[in-house]
Amino acid sequence: MSKTDVRAPEAADAELVVRLAFGSMAAQTLRAAVRLKVVELVGDAQRRAADVAADAGTAHQPMTRLLRALAGLGLLAEHAPDTFSLTPAGALLDPGHPASLTSFAGMFTDPTLLRAWEHLDTSVRTGEIAFDAVFGTDFFRHLGQHPELSAQFNAAMSQATGATAAALPHAFDFGRFTSVTDVGGGDGTLLAGVLDAHPALTGVVFDTTDGLADTPRTLERHGLTERCSTAAGDFFHAVPKGSDLYLIKSVLHDWTDDQAVTILGHCRAVLPPGGRVLIVEPVLPEVVDIHAEADVTDGGTTYLTDLNMMVNVGGRERTRKDFEDLCRRAGLTPISITPLAGAAPFSLIEASAD
Ligand SMILES: C[S@@+](CC[C@H](N)C(=O)[O-])C[C@H]1O[C@@H](n2cnc3c(N)ncnc32)[C@H](O)[C@@H]1O
Repeated sequence: MSKTDVRAPEAADAELVVRLAFGSMAAQTLRAAVRLKVVELVGDAQRRAADVAADAGTAHQPMTRLLRALAGLGLLAEHAPDTFSLTPAGALLDPGHPASLTSFAGMFTDPTLLRAWEHLDTSVRTGEIAFDAVFGTDFFRHLGQHPELSAQFNAAMSQATGATAAALPHAFDFGRFTSVTDVGGGDGTLLAGVLDAHPALTGVVFDTTDGLADTPRTLERHGLTERCSTAAGDFFHAVPKGSDLYLIKSVLHDWTDDQAVTILGHCRAVLPPGGRVLIVEPVLPEVVDIHAEADVTDGGTTYLTDLNMMVNVGGRERTRKDFEDLCRRAGLTPISITPLAGAAPFSLIEASAD
């Protein structure tokens, strides 16, 4: 289809607009399911709505309506009137599922994250970070003041990183290095995946004290307490020296170009000869093409995370050229940019100081 196609709208076009207008209702339906633990209550068999309602402590009819809405969204299947089971997508809302997205769904439907979205038009007009105006502080300071929310954020990031932690160890030649520091490494999920697959490597998870709250538990769970340590600090001040590979995933997109250059500059400052910086982030195509491969477009989600960065933290998603410019400004030479197979929409951006 040409970009200048001006055919008359069809029924499917109206359906698209209606579905998008109802998007936040779908998100709140998901949120209610998580809060009422619907997925755990349905379990792995077919269950009657009356039984789910009794276990959740709700009235029968409202629960049936919620379960039907979840079936309409593809998270449950209704086999006979009032009898439901989980779909594979619904099963991902079970906190016990190995690829669970429960904390992720909870965080991205949380009122804290959504309040700034009410002011997206203002952010577009002024370029200002709506979150800071609404809450009177910035996002990460707010997390520091709200430990429960911070724990949820860390858990959401960990769940969002699962696919990358499985794919990355086999997609990059880690054998050339002796020690990896994960800058802004959160609860350690990504570095644990890398160290599990590469027993000769040692590692450091570097993050704020709040960001590291769950990291010792992750390292213990993976049996990595001997080979991996944590370091608390501020990457706007410095990055700890001692590694020959500095991994940095889903961090630069939280920040403006100038701030991202500062963080990369601190990585460069501690890079030994032959050392590398490995950025893991989505790389936006130069032109939006919703018909391109799903591993590039991510169904359009990355453009929404770009806006999420605009309203909540002031960062942005970036193109290949944007990343190359950031690296050069930080004194780094971009070596390669490669899509990370199995972890769409992420790419690996390798850079050196040589
Ligand atoms: C979007 S999360 C990404 C976490 C992890 N890299 C991942 O991909 O799952 C950003 C991380 O940056 C950390 N962070 C924010 N400000 C920081 C700072 N000034 N110094 C060090 N870490 C910081 C946060 O605590 C958080 O863990």
